Amino acid sequence: MKITVIGAGHVGATAAHRIAEKQLAKTVVLLDILEGIPQGKALDMYESAPVGLFDTRIQGTNDYADTADSDIVLITAGLARKPGMSREDLLMKNAGIVKEVTDNVMRYSQNPIIIMVSNPLDIMTYVGYVRSKLQSSRVIGMAGVLDSARFRSFIAEELNVSMQDINAFVLGGHGDSMVPVVKYTSVAGIPVSELLSAEKIESLVERTRKGGAEIVNYLKDGSAYYAPAASAVEMIDSIVNDRKRILPCSVLLEGQYGIENVYIGVPVKLGAAGVEEILEINLSRDELEALRKSAAIVEQNCNNLTDLLA
Ligand code: APR
Repeated sequence: MKITVIGAGHVGATAAHRIAEKQLAKTVVLLDILEGIPQGKALDMYESAPVGLFDTRIQGTNDYADTADSDIVLITAGLARKPGMSREDLLMKNAGIVKEVTDNVMRYSQNPIIIMVSNPLDIMTYVGYVRSKLQSSRVIGMAGVLDSARFRSFIAEELNVSMQDINAFVLGGHGDSMVPVVKYTSVAGIPVSELLSAEKIESLVERTRKGGAEIVNYLKDGSAYYAPAASAVEMIDSIVNDRKRILPCSVLLEGQYGIENVYIGVPVKLGAAGVEEILEINLSRDELEALRKSAAIVEQNCNNLTDLLA
């Protein structure tokens, strides 16, 4: 198993180290346009191996030839969100970067699984899909796992219970239009609505919606990376080990939920082949409407990229 991580910044480097520590690959290649950064970080990570007890090789590079024959490519290249900047502000700049990165990746790897992290997430995943010409089951966006993790962590804190027992699904676009599905949120199988008041749940939902911004406001010059990296690696773990976990991911919908040709977050089965199934769960009328509204925003933004993607 060879895993390439494009972008040796906060998310990319954190993810690369986590992949190595979990020994999810024999080789991890860390690539960035900045000279020296991926090489230095990769060497530093490699020198942690005797203490971290892993045998994964980590190589830092600026040359796409080193990414040849990757099984999985994690794309984190791009600009991070600054305070006051919406994910949508990043759109044109990051679309250009993701287009260039995807084209370069595909020159050296025949049939990789691409996991997108760059924001605005659902749109960048679409850019990766169009440019790579891979089957849509092999181009997947990381958002729902992160948004759900945030929601789960807030519920665990509120109830003072183990994280392990909390299940939650946050669907829709990765942005202000995300759709936390409270009905499928439970604590050891107990619906969260039996444990917390509707007002409390709503405040946690709101905090989840603004979870990314809350961190940007603290960091000032950068955005979240520990939880995003951990979430991407959870997806990689399910693929590498063919675990067939059910995780919310951004995938191309082709009629499911009444949505056509748009990347949006829904529950999927992730295994060795990538997206092995898209689950169509029962949503309330309001939830379905919110999901479709979220998809319409993504679609509109993707339509603005027609020239760039041509
Ligand atoms: N090719 C390769 N790497 C690039 C390119 C490019 N064309 N353009 C930028 N990069 C690299 C930068 O040099 C930098 O090292 O991408 C890296 C991004 O790292 P950070 O600025 O630390 O950003 P990070 O916090 O890792 O976020 C990366 O993930 O969560 C999203 O919104 C976030 O889109 C952003 C991405």
